[in-house]
Amino acid sequence: MARILQLTLNGRARADAVSDNALLLDYLREIVGLTGTKTGCDGGECGACTVLVDDQPRLSCLTLAATTEGRRVETIEALATDGHLSAVQRGFHEKLGSQCGYCTPGYIMASAGLLRRNKRPTENEIREALGSNICRCTGYVKIIEAVQHAAELCAAGLTP
Ligand code: FES
Ligand code: FES
Repeated sequence: MARILQLTLNGRARADAVSDNALLLDYLREIVGLTGTKTGCDGGECGACTVLVDDQPRLSCLTLAATTEGRRVETIEALATDGHLSAVQRGFHEKLGSQCGYCTPGYIMASAGLLRRNKRPTENEIREALGSNICRCTGYVKIIEAVQHAAELCAAGLTP
């Protein structure tokens, strides 16, 4: 069965035909064409597919698109405004939190979700919030530093 899915995606209202069993990840990449959200393990173990649903990080490979009816979904494409990076994007850029970059959109979205609900996270809170994400390149230290820097940028007035 198919349905018309209505939601707010990256700040814009949309209505798209999707099958009842379509995954949010496939909806974003294949129907909408937003390929910033990555497919990694396709099984809920790597976090590369993380997006925000009503400000909460969600694994889009484990989320049926239909469950986002009427909700706000945000992907990595939504974060920069008028050509300016968000605090989390700047944090990853300035602290070298990204190497090959494949995991980065998922980390950035999970970090943005954290900083929206907790403006001053401790290192342990950052590690806990990113515990569902895997990076094969960085060794994680730079990622933690990137989020700590992003929190400082948020304190200076940038949006996560
Ligand atoms: S692709 Fe979704 S958790 Fe790995
Ligand atoms: S930067 Fe390469 S997997 Fe994380």
